[in-house]
Amino acid sequence: MVQVFQESTQPIERFSLPESPSNLQSAPVIIRTALQEATTALNTAGVENAAANAEWLMAEVLGCPRPELPLHWSETLEATQIQRWQSLVDGRVDRIPLQHLLGTAEFCGLAFEINSSVLAPRPETELLAEAAWAVAAIKEESVVLDIGTGSGCLAVSVAVHAEETTIHALDISNAAINVARANAERHGVAERIIFHEGDARVALPGTCLFDVIVSNPPYIPSAEIESLQIEVRDHDPRLALDGGLDGLEFYRSLAVSCLSRLRSDGRLLLEVGDGQGEVVADLITAQGGRVLEILPDLNNIERIVVASSDNS
Ligand SMILES: C[S@@+](CC[C@H](N)C(=O)[O-])C[C@H]1O[C@@H](n2cnc3c(N)ncnc32)[C@H](O)[C@@H]1O
Repeated sequence: MVQVFQESTQPIERFSLPESPSNLQSAPVIIRTALQEATTALNTAGVENAAANAEWLMAEVLGCPRPELPLHWSETLEATQIQRWQSLVDGRVDRIPLQHLLGTAEFCGLAFEINSSVLAPRPETELLAEAAWAVAAIKEESVVLDIGTGSGCLAVSVAVHAEETTIHALDISNAAINVARANAERHGVAERIIFHEGDARVALPGTCLFDVIVSNPPYIPSAEIESLQIEVRDHDPRLALDGGLDGLEFYRSLAVSCLSRLRSDGRLLLEVGDGQGEVVADLITAQGGRVLEILPDLNNIERIVVASSDNS
């Protein structure tokens, strides 16, 4: 979910373009040059993939798909575009995450609204979504619980891909639920997602049994948060990161609460941090659950623990 990042020791240079309106008119900003200068500024600020980041921001300013940028290289920016460009590049130099600046993130081929209240969905979590909708789609009218829904990326993509499902989406953050609800409406699945605000460590919603319980809980050990990439440390909600002293606080709680809420053929699907797979599997086994498999992500890191409540 998060990458540890070596902070750049280079001084951060501000990105600068002509500031006064008269300068804006007299100094044309050629798109190719603006991209080159922004790439240099982002590199200096320690932004990974600086050139690609600059291109994403320019595509946003021009309102065109990123692959079409070369068609515009020799064109100049208009005054309002210069202001928008300057503010976006400044934000990225300040290490505001790209998705927060763009206001959207792509997940499983769907565009999700993102703001500072929610974690921008990570690519490795797409595996969790795919595993969840694959199980949910086996049965007609599956009932799914998404714990820590955040942007709603898991709940919404499962709802889109498993069309007969009903989904309960829980988060402790009211602001996150508002974002998730907006995303559910955006993708036309709001009628099948029931949102619950509450603390998953205290109670899970309702009393029904679920066919699928899916969660990407906070799993960073508290003391490691300070050493995370600046984008994550300073701009992602701490609520979405902090997994307690050893990062396992939520898994301990979920191992107890989730197994008793699964149907006998139901599945618990948990995303885990690097190196947490076996210990989370042990926590589930210790509560009488049966760990069926631990799926690796594309980097071959154990990422998803799949379990059932039936240990017979
Ligand atoms: C790692 S984020 C996952 C967000 C989203 N599901 C995803 O995969 O991108 C964890 C989410 O759990 C929520 N959360 C944190 N503590 C919680 C708690 N005690 N009960 C319910 N949700 C909680 C956070 O607000 C955050 O949205």
